[in-house]
This record gives sequence, C-alpha cells and structure tokens, in this order.
Amino acid sequence: MKGLVVFDSVHGNTKQVAEAIAEQIRADGHGAEVRNLRAKQAVPSEGDFLFVGSPTRMSKMTGKAKKFVKKLDVEVWRGKPIVAFDTILPMPTEGASDKEKRDAEKYIVYGAAPRMRDLMKARGLSPREEVLRLTVTGMKGPLASGALELAKKYTHDFVLSLKK
Ligand SMILES: Cc1cc2nc3c(=O)[nH]c(=O)nc-3n(C[C@H](O)[C@H](O)[C@H](O)COP(=O)(O)O)c2cc1C
Repeated sequence: MKGLVVFDSVHGNTKQVAEAIAEQIRADGHGAEVRNLRAKQAVPSEGDFLFVGSPTRMSKMTGKAKKFVKKLDVEVWRGKPIVAFDTILPMPTEGASDKEKRDAEKYIVYGAAPRMRDLMKARGLSPREEVLRLTVTGMKGPLASGALELAKKYTHDFVLSLKK
C-alpha cells in the first residue's frame, strides 16, 4: 500500500514528526511519500491512506494546512484511512494560573489535529477519531523527548490495523 504524509511546519518540529511517520510506514513494508506544504512540490492526488499534520498555533491549524484539507478530493479519499496529527505545547503544570489552564484547554480540545479531523468529517471523509499529538517543549520547539518514538508507535499500530 502507499501512504501519503502531508504536513505544514514553521519551525521544523512537525516536519520531523512527518518524516518519522514516513520512516515507520516504510519500515512496516509500505510505500510513503512525504510532502511539505511550504515546498513548491506537487502533492500526489491519490494514495491508500493519508496522514495530514500541522503545528497548533493560536489553537488552530495553519492556513496552508486548512487550505489543503478544504481542497482534499472527497471522491478520492472517501472511506480511506486518514490520520490528523499536530504538535502542541504541553499540558500546564499544577502551578499554572487559571488563565494558562483555560488557554491550554482551548488548544488541547480545539488544536490543529482535532480541527483538521472535524473539518474532514464535515466534508464527508472518515478520519480516525483518535488524532496523533506530539508535544513541543517551547513555543518553537524542540520536540519533547520520546515524541518521535510515540509517532512511530502510533504509525506502526495504525499500519497493522490496515491489514485486518
Ligand atoms: C505564534 C504561535 C502561536 C502558538 N500557539 C499555540 C497554541 O495555541 N497551542 C499550542 O499548543 N502551541 C502553540 N504554539 C506552539 C506551537 O505548537 C509550536 O510552535 C509548533 O508545535 C512547532 O511546530 P513547527 O516547528 O512544525 O512549526 C504557538 C507557537 C507560535 C509561534
């Protein structure tokens, strides 16, 4: 099978996640094409499954990720397995202020990946309910330790589920 991994990334963290996902897809014996929405490179119009990723910024997906999801060809992707993934800041710690906790709730519930998933659902596609979310340790990264391993584990389980 052939998987397509499409992502946007401003500081390179979501890019690293996308590359780890593709590496795992290949390690599991499938083909993987990776496309950066900031590169001037055509995105293949077809595939057997799709991962679409974006950083969470201001509790949202980026404009480029939104445009991609809005233009996804429903005839091609209807009924196919799709995963939304994003990078986000960590949950606030115990000592955080109420405002910090309220802000965090917003992006945890409505961050890039859940928004992309819901937008795809609204367009008649069938993304996985469980989105893949990786934590960055600061506003511009880097990724939290173990994040790429988590992405690979999710991807491995996802690929195995395709065979059933
Ligand atoms: C302007 C700006 C706004 C951000 N807003 C949020 C946010 O609402 N929630 C969140 O979890 N992270 C937020 N972040 C942190 C991003 O999640 C982080 O920059 C991103 O995961 C890095 O991914 P990238 O390297 O692929 O761009 C923000 C970062 C920037 C620079």
